[in-house]
Amino acid sequence: MVDLGVELAGLRLDNPVIPSSGTFGYGEDYAGLYDLNILGSIALKGTTAEPRRGNPLPRIAECEGGMLNSIGLQNPGVDAVADELLPALKAHFNKKVIANACGFSTEEYVYVAKRFDACDNVGLIELNVSCPNVSGRSVGGDPNALFKLVSEVRKHVSKPLLIKLSPLAADLSEIAAAAIEGGADGFTLINSPTGMRIDPVRRSPVLANGRGGMSGKMVFPLALRAVYDVYSRFRVPVIGVGGISSAEDVVEMMLAGAAAVEVGAANLVDPFACKKIIESLGPTLERFGFSSAREVVGLAAQTSKT
Ligand code: SIN
Repeated sequence: MVDLGVELAGLRLDNPVIPSSGTFGYGEDYAGLYDLNILGSIALKGTTAEPRRGNPLPRIAECEGGMLNSIGLQNPGVDAVADELLPALKAHFNKKVIANACGFSTEEYVYVAKRFDACDNVGLIELNVSCPNVSGRSVGGDPNALFKLVSEVRKHVSKPLLIKLSPLAADLSEIAAAAIEGGADGFTLINSPTGMRIDPVRRSPVLANGRGGMSGKMVFPLALRAVYDVYSRFRVPVIGVGGISSAEDVVEMMLAGAAAVEVGAANLVDPFACKKIIESLGPTLERFGFSSAREVVGLAAQTSKT
């Protein structure tokens, strides 16, 4: 019997499979489909201080091997999440969740992170500094700005703090080093890189916002490379996310250094994707000669000469 348990920044998970932020809402829509307690954790929808309606429609476009989204951080605001949705989720999920904290200023990030830090069913905070769908320069692309932001948030938050980064930085190691120096415990890699589609009939972008975040199988190698690079260099806890749709993908991501994985676009194709991956993870690990999930973490990175 393969032991699927893993440790993620001090949090013990029954298995490494977590639905990713933005593909599972606040858990409520999936609760009628299967017992959510089979999941390792749940990453909540990106949340800001104030409620947001998000970007204009259309904000989804299909692509070969994946999709684009330009949701724009639609969410009910952190007070509603902390006071209503998180307590309500306890009826369906008796484990700790991952709270995805967003903002447009240091003060906003601090407010959102502090509210989540005080919630007893939040296990760790994922600081989202890389949303591809909101205007303004992303703090996640600037090492100095990121250092200042993480240092400030760190002062107010006692729970583990993972920083969610875009893979598009010219030097991801420099960005990651700044976040660690600021007090980050680890990373979620990757947020969706930006892309676009153009409708030849209308001669204009398919998405009302023009561009959107790419997800699905097409981004898996990009995500894997980011996890591999950051884990190889820093050996810190990493959640791997981007195009994971099978237990084999989970193993590959963990070999690169992911302590756990988030499954995103696959949930939108098949709402049972996480359940199916968890059910096949044990036999898959066994097939590759492993007796536990945790022994896989970083094995490819550790043997790398680069
Ligand atoms: C969105 O709401 O636009 C997606 C959030 C994200 O990718 O960070």
